[in-house]
Amino acid sequence: MTNSNNIMGDHKISEPCTLIIFGATGHLSKKKLLPALYHLEESKRLPEKMTIVGFGRRDWSNEQWAEEIKPELKKHVRSGIDDEVFKRFSQRLNFQKGDLQQISSFEKLKERLGGSDVFSNNHIFYLAIRPQDYNFVTKNLVATGLHKEDNGYARLVVEKPFGHDLESSEILDSQLHKYFQEEQIYRIDHYLGKDTVQNILVFRFANLLLEPLWNRNYIDHVQITHAETAGVEGRSHFYDSAGALRDMIQSHLLQMLTLVAMEPPAHLDANALRDEKVKVLRSIRPINRKSVNMQAFRAQYTSGDVNHSKVPSYLNEEDIAQDSTTETFAAMKLYIDNWRWKGVPFYLRTGKRMKENNFLVSIRFKRPPQQLFKDTALKQMDPDWVLINIQPEECLRIEMQVKKSGLELETKTSQLEACRCEDKEKIDAYEALLLEVMEGDQTLFLRYDEVSWAWKIVDPVLRTWMEEQDYIHTYPAGTWGPEVSSRLFDSNDQFWRNKLEHNECDID
Ligand code: BG6
Repeated sequence: MTNSNNIMGDHKISEPCTLIIFGATGHLSKKKLLPALYHLEESKRLPEKMTIVGFGRRDWSNEQWAEEIKPELKKHVRSGIDDEVFKRFSQRLNFQKGDLQQISSFEKLKERLGGSDVFSNNHIFYLAIRPQDYNFVTKNLVATGLHKEDNGYARLVVEKPFGHDLESSEILDSQLHKYFQEEQIYRIDHYLGKDTVQNILVFRFANLLLEPLWNRNYIDHVQITHAETAGVEGRSHFYDSAGALRDMIQSHLLQMLTLVAMEPPAHLDANALRDEKVKVLRSIRPINRKSVNMQAFRAQYTSGDVNHSKVPSYLNEEDIAQDSTTETFAAMKLYIDNWRWKGVPFYLRTGKRMKENNFLVSIRFKRPPQQLFKDTALKQMDPDWVLINIQPEECLRIEMQVKKSGLELETKTSQLEACRCEDKEKIDAYEALLLEVMEGDQTLFLRYDEVSWAWKIVDPVLRTWMEEQDYIHTYPAGTWGPEVSSRLFDSNDQFWRNKLEHNECDID
């Protein structure tokens, strides 16, 4: 059963459950899942009788696994490890040696889960593994009957990337659906678990002020920029075959676009919200193969300075082929051909090894229809912007023009801000999402049609880039990406916004 009313937090303590992590010793588990579970333990959000089973090749006891985890938690836990909390947390940890491809390993898992009262019959299977291995796991779960919901629920959590392109995602989806019902499948896009991302819905639909302006009559264009200082961080194999367009734009940035552009849903339940997001994706004008170079841009970083440290070029990262043309920076221009947005360009941009970490949605308004000040010293004034900073600051800002005090007719940009920097309760996306899975609420997870429409949008670009492998633009690490990416702009008064600049009142 799917509960459907939980999008804005308000989490209850769920029923007991057993969370089985496939890929328990991998990057995602160490960096995101286990720290998120520890935080939930700390804030007493985990059900009392909840156990965590790590499935992996190592021959570890439960205690050894706990010891292995500790240094990782130290790196990623917000306020350091508390001995008492860690003791409680480690009592939940169980390690199960096994091979994803061997049915005998799943038989042993089943025996262990069924053989003790410690393990609840509500099972959550988390696939923190390579997509190539999904099929082995689902087949083995089915062969051992672990997918059945006779005595409790069986939920499957699937990480992105969901396929490599449209065709492979369709195959993957049909494989999953052979064995699992849609209500059992939770496709993660961790951006939907971010608090500030959910705040976009509150900002848009709880405030009447902006709604009349939120359309093609008043908005000039929208930019969605994700910049990170990190490089490939030990994920070379995955990244070199994926690239920035697949890794970030097909998933997170298109999801952000849907939240900015969607119509108000009839309700906040899982399907109403996802129906509206899909409507946006379906309205995006398909990119014609001939116009790929006018609507998409890619580049790769060369060596440079990031946060005052020298970093190598992408081609000199470990395990990257010398002739790789994989993009570490991608930008795209999209048009949503519906009543609200026709003619308004949406620019999406993402890059690794950029100058700073920042995720910013920038909405630029049109200039007033009458140039009232054209014969004064002001001539042309700057347009208004709405800026939504997802990270690192959690801030909504409206930039407006005001007259500077004094005898001259001069203006400056002034800012209205709704920030949440002082809010004490910070919650990581994975904490929110894990709670949602335990509660059985699919609102913040992707329905397959969202994934499929997103692939349809980027597929023509991916194909063209696959064919054109002889050249790629470059940018020095530690910059905001190549200037030439501005060629995507529809008019020459458009420019990239990189981050929230400081309040100009302070500078005045
Ligand atoms: C992941 C990508 O989905 O998102 C990574 O695979 C990227 O390459 C990460 O670094 C960014 O997420 P966040 O939450 O750190 O902005």
